[in-house]
Amino acid sequence: MTQDAPPADGYDSLAEGYTAENDNSLMNAYYERPAALALAGDVAGRRILDAGCGSGPLFAELRARGATVTGIEASAGMLEQARQRLGADADLRVADLADPLPFPDDSFDDVIASLVLHYLRDWGPTLAEMRRVLRTGGRLIASVNHPMAMNLLHRQSGPRPDYFETYDWTEEWTMGGRTAQLRFWNQPLHRMTDAFTAAGFRIDVVSEPHPVPAAREKFPDDFHLLDTFPTFLFFVVQAE
Ligand SMILES: C[S@@+](CC[C@H](N)C(=O)[O-])C[C@H]1O[C@@H](n2cnc3c(N)ncnc32)[C@H](O)[C@@H]1O
Repeated sequence: MTQDAPPADGYDSLAEGYTAENDNSLMNAYYERPAALALAGDVAGRRILDAGCGSGPLFAELRARGATVTGIEASAGMLEQARQRLGADADLRVADLADPLPFPDDSFDDVIASLVLHYLRDWGPTLAEMRRVLRTGGRLIASVNHPMAMNLLHRQSGPRPDYFETYDWTEEWTMGGRTAQLRFWNQPLHRMTDAFTAAGFRIDVVSEPHPVPAAREKFPDDFHLLDTFPTFLFFVVQAE
């Protein structure tokens, strides 16, 4: 049962274009992904669930560092891109994070959820499932749109949404010549931290990273903006 239809249709039609963008963009390749990998640290030998793995760029990096990785993803189109990248042997499954996860208890040492929780209105059932499939002491590493940054942007561009409310909006993305509507949810920081603790996690790290310095020369116009104002917010929380 889904709490809201996942944006799989949107990502299905964007899959090829989004993959090319994500592989090389300032936001993903030089900001979000390096930050997620830095927070994960030494992952050799760890069993990791890449939740909302998209076309698998993070999966590939984690596997190259010695982790045993499983990827789940709502969009079959994105998963097909991941299959092309990662090969026939990669453990990849279509699954909606709003549903129960198709794994027994204690299956993983880490769950990594990069830029996916903000597609869900209610994190509770999803975080409870992530806690269930993690061993005690395992970690959830999650990145999301920074809620304050999103709210400030929305205030500049239209009616001022209440930061303290959970609210949704739709964006039209065009990539690789295809256009799709994607629906996002914003919720205040305290609601995120409450959801982690209610699901049985202890908050270890809240992080607002910077883009990697190498991006300065490659993206001279946008680097300064991203280096001086956060777009994403990261959490490392531990299963208690
Ligand atoms: C911004 S992309 C990030 C992909 C990947 N984590 C990365 O960082 O490269 C978000 C991904 O989450 C997936 N997604 C969104 N809602 C989902 C849900 N309810 N269950 C599983 N995947 C979902 C989308 O299909 C998309 O591939």
